[in-house]
Amino acid sequence: MRLRILLLLLWMGLSCQTPAEKKTYSIGFSQCTGGDEWRRVMLNDINRELTLYPDFRLIYKDAANSTATQLAQIKELVQQDIDLLIISPNETSPVLTAAIDEVFQKGIPVILLDRKITSESYNSFIGADNLEIGRMVGEALPTLLKKGGKIVEVWGLASSSPAQERHKGLIEGISKKPAVQIIGQLYGQWEQDTARKVALANLDILREADLVFAHNDVMALSVQQVCKEAGIRPLPLFVGIDGLPGPKSGLQKIMEGTLTATFLYPTGGEEAIETAARILAGKAAKREYVLNSIRIDRSNIKAIKTQSDKLLLQQQDIESLNQRIGQLNDTYASQKNALYVIITCLVLAVFLGIWALYLVRAKQLSNRKLELQNRQINEQKDKIEEVSNKARQATEEKLRFYSYISHEFRTPLSLILTPVEDLLNQKAISQKDLKSGLLYIQKNAHRLLRLVDQMLDLRKTDAGQQLLQASEQDVVQFLREIVTDFQQKAHKSKIDLQFITSATFLPLWFDAEKLDKVLFNLLSNAFKYTPKGGFIHVILQETAENVQIIIKDNGEGMSDTEKERAFDLYFSGQKKYSLGTGLGLALSREFVHLHHGEIEVTSTKNEGTTFDISLPKGDAHLMPDEKALLDKTERPTPTFWEETEVVLPTPAAEIADAATSVVLIEDNTDLSHYILDKLAKIVSIQSFTTAERGWEGILSMIPDLIICDVMLPGMDGFELTQRVKEDFRTSHIPVLLLTAKSQIDAKIEGSRAGADVYLTKPFNTTHLTETIKTMLNNRAKIQRRFSSEYVFTNENKIEKRFLNELTARIETHIADSEFSVEKLSTDMGMSRVQLYRKVHALLQMNVNDYITEIRINKAKALLRDTNKSIADVAYETGFNSAAYFTTLFRQKQQQTPSEFRKSVGV
Ligand code: FRU
Repeated sequence: MRLRILLLLLWMGLSCQTPAEKKTYSIGFSQCTGGDEWRRVMLNDINRELTLYPDFRLIYKDAANSTATQLAQIKELVQQDIDLLIISPNETSPVLTAAIDEVFQKGIPVILLDRKITSESYNSFIGADNLEIGRMVGEALPTLLKKGGKIVEVWGLASSSPAQERHKGLIEGISKKPAVQIIGQLYGQWEQDTARKVALANLDILREADLVFAHNDVMALSVQQVCKEAGIRPLPLFVGIDGLPGPKSGLQKIMEGTLTATFLYPTGGEEAIETAARILAGKAAKREYVLNSIRIDRSNIKAIKTQSDKLLLQQQDIESLNQRIGQLNDTYASQKNALYVIITCLVLAVFLGIWALYLVRAKQLSNRKLELQNRQINEQKDKIEEVSNKARQATEEKLRFYSYISHEFRTPLSLILTPVEDLLNQKAISQKDLKSGLLYIQKNAHRLLRLVDQMLDLRKTDAGQQLLQASEQDVVQFLREIVTDFQQKAHKSKIDLQFITSATFLPLWFDAEKLDKVLFNLLSNAFKYTPKGGFIHVILQETAENVQIIIKDNGEGMSDTEKERAFDLYFSGQKKYSLGTGLGLALSREFVHLHHGEIEVTSTKNEGTTFDISLPKGDAHLMPDEKALLDKTERPTPTFWEETEVVLPTPAAEIADAATSVVLIEDNTDLSHYILDKLAKIVSIQSFTTAERGWEGILSMIPDLIICDVMLPGMDGFELTQRVKEDFRTSHIPVLLLTAKSQIDAKIEGSRAGADVYLTKPFNTTHLTETIKTMLNNRAKIQRRFSSEYVFTNENKIEKRFLNELTARIETHIADSEFSVEKLSTDMGMSRVQLYRKVHALLQMNVNDYITEIRINKAKALLRDTNKSIADVAYETGFNSAAYFTTLFRQKQQQTPSEFRKSVGV
């Protein structure tokens, strides 16, 4: 729509630029004949004059001397809607007169040129006075003839008005001159050819003539030519009419003396156009426009010729100027058109440019809108994703928390159930065993209780039911007491525990029960992660408004993520939840917040952790219901069940092979102690609290069995199992994974890692010892298989590879008597002890025996398959002497080498 309006405006603009249309006039010109020079001159005169009237359009018709043709052409012109008719009628015939009458009646102005009609139906007649010309000729004849003479008159078309009037004038002119006599009249019809014909037909008359007067120069010259050809001597004088310029026309012929005289007969072409312009402009025009004529003969020809030539030149100049003007007009017109085209293109280009700009702008706008929408959608999407991520994370954390809580419950439960089962299994229980078992049970029951208390505390805090019951007390004494409570534990763990403060007395509003729990948790946590020889400092200091309690250790420290989320309830750190870092820290923060205080943690991995508690001084920050009604200065006595030495009942299990070595990796010291106590009697056992240290122990001991907890700080049980099973040196050692985690996916993870047995906590001791025995027995069976047949199943690919490599290395050096266990263990990338333990575990023999066995086997093959001497065979299989070879051979084969050779039929 917008485009259409713009196009319309453009068109209107262009229309306005076009010059106002001027009215053009069509002028019909009906010529009786166009075939002679005089008529050509007339048409030139008309066209020349028309150049002054650019709004006139000439429609030219040549009737070629035919009245019928001229009639038809008049009709055509009328049909072409001419505004004016110029006509030179062929003759004065009634039909032609009637036709012109009709045109005139239609209101089309009519100008008669040169010849007349018999009616008055015309606006203007333009032409010379032919009667007068005839008279001038008649009067001039006596002078030309001197004494009079015989005359032959050559007529134009007898029915045309000039011929009639010229004849009439001639008669009048010679009427007073009796000496002049017309002896003949020839009818040449204005035409050169007709004149020639009639002249040829009337030579006799012409021979008599003294002077020939023709109605025009063309006929006079044509008759003269006939006379010359007929040999008429002397030639008569010749007189004509028209006096045209040009090399073959009247004026030239006068100059040459061919014609004696001629009479100027103007064409009236210019006057006709001038008159037409007046009529069309509505101005008055003369009805009769008589053109002047003069006699031209030898007396005035030079002057006239000069003037005529000049005129001719001027006319030629005018024509060439006209041509030039025409060319310029054409150029102008084409340039104008080009200009219009250029302007149109320019306007179109501008318009299209504006249009394109408009479209670009619109596109930009819509793009911007879309971008904005896109951004908004993306932002919304991000928000939704963020919310759903948070929700998912929260759910995952909750689930993790539940599984952690279950785990935390299972460990003390297992340490309650196991001694109970052990006690029940014993027929007679000693007093000592009973007490020890019960202490174990009590300790773990308390631990459970504390766990449940903490959960309830948290639940209360969550529900907003936890109320501060603060009273003003000396915080110095309060802290000193707590630190003192931990001193024994510090002493045992060889940790430098100090309470540092410059204050001796510092009153502070706090809830002793809650703050005690906070400090208990933070200190327990510090002990858990501080190694032997480390320090734990409790620092008390004050600022103008706050009291600061700082618990600083140089223990394991936390990673950035652990630190960031240390107080989050559901965050498990890397893999491990612990009471201290899980419930304990979350609860501590809640309790500090209840005090309107702040707790912050700063920690660097492997450098240590600092908890900084800041509590406001005074009681202005406390609501009335946050103050205890009674002063509760008594701090609950902490229970350090972990410190209690427990002597476990003696295991009822039968003594197994004490030479069997076992590595136990368990971070829970209670459980570790318990298992140690149970197994120490049947195997040689060494325990570790982390998988990293356990791995080192495994490598140095190459034990017969590994018992490992799954959930360990740092490397976990699965990772350790995988490492054990992938290492040549340890791949043969069976692994028993212990865990409180009973989820099925964990089992799968365990089996993928290659664990041999998976035992879920709580387990009973008998089950554990039985399982261990079964595992060791299975190992022995496998050993037998390895040592007797060297046949391996798919399940023992790693061992097979190990033995293949071992055998191949021995065979490579079989001729080398110096080849030793040291060299072999270096080749295998193991220590001597590792190689010894591995070979013994797989083959139940020492490495040297195995080397000897390979040598003997090779010797047997040589004895059987070759004729080599015993000495050679001994030498080739790495024995220094044939005697020693024979002795060893007999020991192993119960026959000498030669007996063996005989027995196999060589
Ligand atoms: C030309 C002409 C002239 C003559 C005139 C008379 O066609 O024959 O020679 O003067 O016509 O109409």
